Amino acid sequence: MISFDVLVIGELNVDIILDDIKGFPMIGKEILASELNVVLGSSSAIFASNLSSLGKSVAMVGLLGEDSFADLIKKSLQNKKVNTDFVVTTKKYSTGLTIVMNYGMDRANVTFPGAMEHLSTADITDEMLLSSKHLHLSSIFLQKGIKNEAIELFKRAKKLGLKTSMDPQWDPAENWDLELEQLLPHIDIWMPNVMEFKNITGTDTISAGIEKIKNYSNCVVIKDGVHGAHLWEKGKLTSKPAFLNSKVVDCIGAGDSFDAGFISEFVKGSSLDRCVEVGNVMGAINTLEPGGTAAFENIESVRIKAQEKFEFTL
Ligand SMILES: Nc1ncnc2c1ncn2[C@@H]1O[C@H](COP(=O)(O)OP(=O)(O)OP(=O)(O)O)[C@@H](O)[C@H]1O
Ligand SMILES: [Mg+2]
Repeated sequence: MISFDVLVIGELNVDIILDDIKGFPMIGKEILASELNVVLGSSSAIFASNLSSLGKSVAMVGLLGEDSFADLIKKSLQNKKVNTDFVVTTKKYSTGLTIVMNYGMDRANVTFPGAMEHLSTADITDEMLLSSKHLHLSSIFLQKGIKNEAIELFKRAKKLGLKTSMDPQWDPAENWDLELEQLLPHIDIWMPNVMEFKNITGTDTISAGIEKIKNYSNCVVIKDGVHGAHLWEKGKLTSKPAFLNSKVVDCIGAGDSFDAGFISEFVKGSSLDRCVEVGNVMGAINTLEPGGTAAFENIESVRIKAQEKFEFTL
C-alpha cells in the first residue's frame, strides 16, 4: 500500500556546532568556544525535513547507532513529521557526527561517518520501496554500502513502479567514480550541482558533460548557486535564473532545499519548468535563515516568504 509521496535514502548524522571560538585549535593546547548547538545534520535529513514542511508525506531510510545521538536524530525528524519507521539501528556502529567549528562565514568540519557508511541495499526491502511513489537518494559517496549496489537498487525501484531521483553531493575522496552509463537510465531526475556535474562527467563545461551522457540520461538538473539552475531534458538545455536575495545569511542546505522544492512539484505532476522554478525559490528562501531548515516551518509560512520576498506564487 502506498503511504508516502517520497522515500528518502540517505546519510543521517548529528552536527555539533561550536561558535565564537577563541582562535584556531592547536595540538597540545586548549581553547574555548562560547556557543554550542547540537542539531540534526546531513543533507538527506535537510531534504526530507523541508519536503515534509512543504506538505509532502516523507519516510526516511538510514542507519543509526543505538545511542543518544540516534534518539536526537529520530526526534528531530519526527518533529518535522518525517516518518522514521524505516530508520534502522545497529549496535555495531556509532551514529555519525560532524563537529563544525565556525569562524565567521567560514568553517572547519570534522566528520565521523560511523553508521551512515554501513547502510546496505539489503536493508532496503521491497516493502519499503512499495510504500512510496518516489525514491530519492542523496550523498551516494558517503554511503559506501549503498554506492556499489545503487544500480540494482534503482533498477528494483523502477521495476516496482517508483519515480526516482538522486543528488550525488560532494565526493570527499574526490574519486567521482560512478558508473553513469549503468546508473542514469534508472534515474528519472539527476540533481548534481555544477562542480559535482563536471567532476562526475569528467568534463570542463556543462555542454560537454551533457554531450557525454545524453544517450543514456533521462532528465538532468544542474544547480548553479547564484546563477540558478540548468535543465536538460529531451535533448534541450535551458537555464532559469536564481531569485536573488540581497541579504544572504548563509547558503548551508540551499541545494537540498532546491531538491525539496523541485521534487515537491515533480510528485504532483507539474511541468519540469515549474519544478525548476520552485526549486530555485526554495534555494533562495533557504538563504534567508541560518542553516538548512530554519526557513521552512510549514507550507503557509513558506508561501508567504515566496510571495513577499520573491514575488513568487507557490
Ligand atoms: N545566494 C543565493 N541567492 C539566491 N538563491 C540561491 C543562492 N545560493 C543558492 N541559491 C539557490 O539554491 C540552489 C542550490 O544552490 P547550490 O547551487 O549552492 O546547490 P548545492 O551546491 O548543491 O548546495 P548544498 O551545499 O546545499 O549541497 C541554486 O540553484 C539557487 O536556485
Ligand atoms: Mg548539494
